[in-house]
Amino acid sequence: MSITDNSAAILNDIELKYKAINQKTETHLEGLLWSKPITYWDYIQTDALLNLQIQRTVLPDEMVFIMYHQVNELIFKMILWEMNQISYAQDIKTEFFTERLMRISRYFDMLTTSFDIMGDGMEVEQYMKFRNTLTPASGFQSAQYRLIEFSSTDLINLIDHRYRETIDRNTPYEFAFEHLYWQAAGKDYHTGKKSFLLDEFEKKYKDAFLRHMEEYNTINIWQKFKQLPDSDQKNPELIKAMRHYDHTVNITWVMGHLNAARKYIDSGQGTGEATGGSDWKKYMHPKYQRRIFFPELWSADELANWGVEI
Ligand code: HEM
Repeated sequence: MSITDNSAAILNDIELKYKAINQKTETHLEGLLWSKPITYWDYIQTDALLNLQIQRTVLPDEMVFIMYHQVNELIFKMILWEMNQISYAQDIKTEFFTERLMRISRYFDMLTTSFDIMGDGMEVEQYMKFRNTLTPASGFQSAQYRLIEFSSTDLINLIDHRYRETIDRNTPYEFAFEHLYWQAAGKDYHTGKKSFLLDEFEKKYKDAFLRHMEEYNTINIWQKFKQLPDSDQKNPELIKAMRHYDHTVNITWVMGHLNAARKYIDSGQGTGEATGGSDWKKYMHPKYQRRIFFPELWSADELANWGVEI
């Protein structure tokens, strides 16, 4: 048998790799001899993936609803994957920062431009029937969406603006959590009572959220930006990418989502109530919600008119 120089070099590297972890190279090479060649379906896990679409009704458009939500969750995962790379990068360069941010924005742009799949891609009559079987669940309970927010900005920018003055960087996470803007979707601030939607969500994810809030306190996208040298913080490409991301997530997507909600919930075919039970028309509008990840990158005028343009 003739072994080329290239094969010999690879074998040598393999030997070094296994030696470092106290393993026998020969055993691993023999394992390779019997290993099954990979196929597309094993690698992509298509069987598992395509078995996750389980309808609760016989209405065909429910499938559109389920699958589009699943596509969203997959894209959310891609977004979190890139965010993690920015957050954990040491000595980050503006090119890397901008490039990764643009990847994230492309994913979010895709979710924004595809929202018509919800708005135009289902019959109102069918939606109004199958939605009753998913009450009291809501996309509000998407944990990845909340993780994206925590990874994007300082907590203060996610606090309900009515309570911002009571909170600073020394506030315990638990207190900040109770005053996140999205608590307003299900909490009666006078009695402290939470809706079923919110209670269930917190039972499942609150601990993970508190851990994530703490983890990203100093490494969220805004903090990474502020840790750059002053000259890098003035980089026009990076600023453009940061603004684009903020606008897409907090205005364009939000409006696409709100318009879809209006089409169905306000169709006159139901009670006008959301499945999650929030005061949705007010709660969901960017003008009222005023969720802005990077307020320092917008002018006073732009901030005053946040979400008003639409
Ligand atoms: C016809 C389609 C949709 C309608 C009618 C709709 C409606 C609503 C409503 C009314 C709310 C407010 C909470 C409540 O009371 O339920 C909400 C929240 C939410 N929905 Fe949807 N939704 C739709 C599709 C989607 C999709 C495809 C996603 C993607 C995962 C999604 C993600 C969310 C998120 C993340 C929230 C919380 C937003 C926030 O707190 O600002 N929704 N949705």
